Parts: sequence; structure tokens; C-alpha cells
Amino acid sequence: MAAAGSAVGLGNIWGFPTQAASNGGAAFLLIYLLLAFTLAYPALMAELIIGRHAHANAVNALRLISPGRLMQRIGVGTGLVGLVVASFILSFYSIIAGWMLAYTLASIAELAGLDALVAWLRDFSLGRNLLFMLIFLALTVGIISEGVKEGIERWSSRLMPMLLISLVLLVIYVLTLDGAMAGLRVYLLPDFERALEPGLIINALGSAFFSLSLGVGTMLIYGSYISDRENLPLVGGLVTLVDICIAVTAGFLVLPAMYVALHNGVEIFTASGALISEDTLIFTVLPALFDSMGIAGIVVSLVFFFLMSIAALTSSISMLEVPVAYTIEQHNVGRKPAVVVIGLIIAAVSALILLNFDSLFGLVVTATTRYSQPLLGFMFCIFAGWVWHRDNLLQELRRGYPEVEQGWFWKIWPWYVRVVCPVIILAIFAQSLT
Ligand code: ALA
Repeated sequence: MAAAGSAVGLGNIWGFPTQAASNGGAAFLLIYLLLAFTLAYPALMAELIIGRHAHANAVNALRLISPGRLMQRIGVGTGLVGLVVASFILSFYSIIAGWMLAYTLASIAELAGLDALVAWLRDFSLGRNLLFMLIFLALTVGIISEGVKEGIERWSSRLMPMLLISLVLLVIYVLTLDGAMAGLRVYLLPDFERALEPGLIINALGSAFFSLSLGVGTMLIYGSYISDRENLPLVGGLVTLVDICIAVTAGFLVLPAMYVALHNGVEIFTASGALISEDTLIFTVLPALFDSMGIAGIVVSLVFFFLMSIAALTSSISMLEVPVAYTIEQHNVGRKPAVVVIGLIIAAVSALILLNFDSLFGLVVTATTRYSQPLLGFMFCIFAGWVWHRDNLLQELRRGYPEVEQGWFWKIWPWYVRVVCPVIILAIFAQSLT
């Protein structure tokens, strides 16, 4: 449940639908589903298995499973790059999550009739962005400094059903509104020619890896907390299914909501047909949708943005745990000082991004999620498929799943993660460069 909590977050409700909206809707959905099951799930398994075996952070885990000096160095390097990427992801993630918090408070302020405050909370301003980024990071730091296991599973297991139910209810509502069918058509009727565009494929790959928190050692650390009694392929499969299910459902909400907003005169596209502002798209179309519900919409908006804030929190704590676990395990520092110092560094990077929003925000999102996560995922596949001894891998899987050799997972996954995953990930990158 905690791993699913790490996976489900802004990637599902902000990332995936926005990417789908700007990359041809159904064509993106099709490629996303394909890549999530065929590349992201096997890469997730690599992290979970290595993590549970090593019971350590990614740097130490990759060193432990590597036989020679050279591979140990490459393992340490991969773990360290993952740690830096996780920190950069958290720096932009806190900004968006801060917006979620601001919109939650805006709904409360609206109920109280504080119109000026509502306007300030909803308007894009440096002051608001800085304040709520800091509040969100402070919440993340607070939870992580108490230790990662306590409470996260409990929060996640309550959150996910609530989030899914509210998404489904909102989808049902939005589909009754004028304009929604145009959005549904865009989401469900693929233009197969677009599906083969290299840019779309690489965006879908990055989206799937971001959504499952892959490549940066997050899932490896969560793997290290999974008990030996658990059947890992099943755990990984459930996490993938929950994550994809929530992303796809969010698409059924956001794309129709976009076209409803368009129908109601909200500007979404430029004259050339591109989205006006991808980063803040859902903060335009969803409030417009909630406003159409009258007074009930304020409560719905409150529940929605509150759930999103919690979903973001169960993901951000898993990301902060990556540099924190390394610092504690490696440098013998106490948990609290490690969390505070790392939290301050990430807050400084977030502030820098906010001060140069137009030039840095998109750049950091693209560099981390679109390029770094799949390439680091590639490295985890290499470690699981080529570097780690096959017998050790099998032994690890046998724990919690003694009959693993008879099942389909052991027949397919080892060679698949060894050959197919690395080759396809590289091919997608090579194609995107041409
Ligand atoms: N996997 C996390 C999310 O989707 C980062 O939000």
C-alpha cells in the first residue's frame, strides 16, 4: 500500500492527463498503456527485488549485488545520480503540490465568503507559490523525520479508494455536461499515425516511469521494507495496476473537463491548437468544472484538492526518503538533522525554480522525468539482468513465492529485463534523437 501510495500522486492526475491532452489524447493513452505494462512493470520489479534483497538504499544495494570493482563503481554512480534526480523531482513536485494545498484552502475560504483570499490563493503569484511550496515541503520533512514506516501504509490504504471513488463520481458528472463528448472522443479514438511519433513515445515512456516513481531508487527503498513473506511479482503487479487505473480514470475526467470548459468559453488552446499552459491546465479546467456545480462544487473542490494534496504527500515522502536513507546509512548522521538539511537544500532549489519559472520549471520536469528516469530505469534493468547473479535473484524471488519457477514470471521476466527492456528503452531514445 505504501508503494502504491508512492506511485499514485501528481503524476497520475497532473502529469498523465496533461501529457495526454497535449500529445493527441487516445494515441498517447494507447502508447502509455503499452509502455507501462511492458517496460515500467518489469523495471519496477527490478527495483523491488534488488531492494528487498539488499535491505539498503540504492547506492549500497547496487554495490552489494555487483561482483567486480568496476561494476560496483558504476552501481554507486547510478545510485547517486538517482538520488540527485529524486531531489530535483521533489523540487518541482513541491511547487505543484503547493498549488494543490492552496486550492484546498481556497475552497475553505470560498465557503467562508472570503473572496479576496480566494482570489489570492488561486492566482499564480510568486508569494503564493513560495509560501505553499514551503508548507508542503515542511509537511514532507515533518513526516520523514518521524521515520518512514509509521502511518504511511495506513494513509495510503485509506487514500487510494477515496481518490478513485471521487474520480469516478466526477467522471460521471462531467460526462453529463455539454462539450464532454468531444473530450471523450479525443481521449478514446486514436490517431494511429500520431502514436508512432518519436516525441509522443518518449513522453509516454517518461510519464510511465514518473508515475511509478522509477529509476531514482524510491521503489528500491520501498522494496527493502517489504516483508520476505510477500510475493513480489504480485505486489509489483498490483502497484502497477492501481497506478495505471488511477491515471486512466483521471484522463476520463480531465480531457472531457477541458472540452466542457472550452464549450463554456474558457480559453484552452492557442490559435495553432497547442495548449495555452500545460503546467497549470488542471488548475484552470477543474475549478471551472467545480464552479458549474454551484455551492456543492465548493465542497467537491475541497475534497478533491485535499485528496490530491495527501496523494502528493505519500509520493513526496518516498522521494525525500531516497537522499535521507543514503545520508543516514552512509554517513552515520541522525535522521532529524539529515532530513532538515536535505529539506532546506531542496527548498532552495524549488525557490530558484520559482524565481525563474518560465525558463526552469519545464526544463527540470523534462530533464528529470522524460530523460533521467527512463535512462536510470535502463541501468536497473542492466543490474538485475546482467550484473546480479541469476541464482541470487531466484533465491530472493522464492521468498514469499516458493513455486516461482513454475510460474510465468520466472519464464519471461529474467530474459525480458535482460534483453527486451534495455533494447527498447535505448531504441526509443535513439529514435527521439533523430
Ligand atoms: N510517482 C509519483 C507520482 O506519480 C511521483 O506522482
